[in-house]
Amino acid sequence: MRIGVLTGGGDCPGLNAVIRAIVRKAEGQHGDEVVGFYDAWDGVMEGRSVRLDTAQVRGILPRGGTILGTRRGGPFDSDGGVDRVRATMNAERLDALVVIGGNGSLTVASMLADDHGLPVIGVPKTIDNDVVGTDATFGFQTAVQIATDAIDRLHTTAESHDRVMVVEVMGRDTGWIAMQAGIAGGATAIVVPEVPFDIDELAAIVTRRHARGRYASVVVVAEGARPKPGTLSLPERGNDHYGNEKLGDLSHVIGTELSKRTGYESRVVQLGHIQRGGTPTSYDRVLATRFGLGAVGLVHDNAWGKMVALKCGQIVAESMSVTRGKTRFIDRDLFDDVAKSFFG
Ligand code: F6P
Repeated sequence: MRIGVLTGGGDCPGLNAVIRAIVRKAEGQHGDEVVGFYDAWDGVMEGRSVRLDTAQVRGILPRGGTILGTRRGGPFDSDGGVDRVRATMNAERLDALVVIGGNGSLTVASMLADDHGLPVIGVPKTIDNDVVGTDATFGFQTAVQIATDAIDRLHTTAESHDRVMVVEVMGRDTGWIAMQAGIAGGATAIVVPEVPFDIDELAAIVTRRHARGRYASVVVVAEGARPKPGTLSLPERGNDHYGNEKLGDLSHVIGTELSKRTGYESRVVQLGHIQRGGTPTSYDRVLATRFGLGAVGLVHDNAWGKMVALKCGQIVAESMSVTRGKTRFIDRDLFDDVAKSFFG
């Protein structure tokens, strides 16, 4: 078979581990040829590709980012985009296209497979861990580890100065990174999009902690968090180039308002793309590798429209259609029963 591969959407640690596993299994076990497309769907629509063989993927397992490059956007954003995807697949004599992506890329892949009859399968990735149909995505665990390390470091400087440190983490509309890193880092409070916050309640948590003789607080804030309606006004956010709401100023508002209400000095740290860069953790390398091997299995089963998924520790096939326009939100029991038990 000839198998095309692309990486789409925001990058995350582990993408290269998937590419390596696909090439190693496809070539080594089936005698397939693998073709990589540069810059996600742009490379497919513009016919920019590279032949990937075992020699070329040597050494990429621990490397962050993606050797293929990535972009947001896809064939449904421009007239004739789907025709160009089909034309390239024909020109390259592809029997299958493997799309390694998050919610946006998997939605596109699902539409191409189910609505346009193209032989496409998916591999879920994202640091946000917000893909429906899988228990986890690779990249997430690395981001959580980076955020946890940062929280550990911030604790000591916060203690020295008796400050409130507000740490903003990524996650878009979900609080997976904030919740996990907050629990692991012993945060004073965790603010997630799934649970609108009240700034007065947050200030009361910080004040209560200090009243108990503890000092220094670390408040972890997910970038997409929102205040309870009518409790706090935020500056207008606007949209980025791709129509996504611009995030990133909430933590500054929270820092300022907490200082005002508690009297303690605050500092704000936005971890930003540090969470997405660098080498994947061993967990993510293994998950990405299993996903890559599983993807080749799906290709040889002609399982078009399916993606690999992790369910109860096993790699299984799941319909990509379950991801369409959906977001996987945090486990509320974990937030209410575990995270909240340590607030204050
Ligand atoms: O989806 C992954 C993610 O890192 C989100 O957590 C974040 O909101 C967004 O991508 C940032 O996107 P960009 O790299 O385009 O700034």
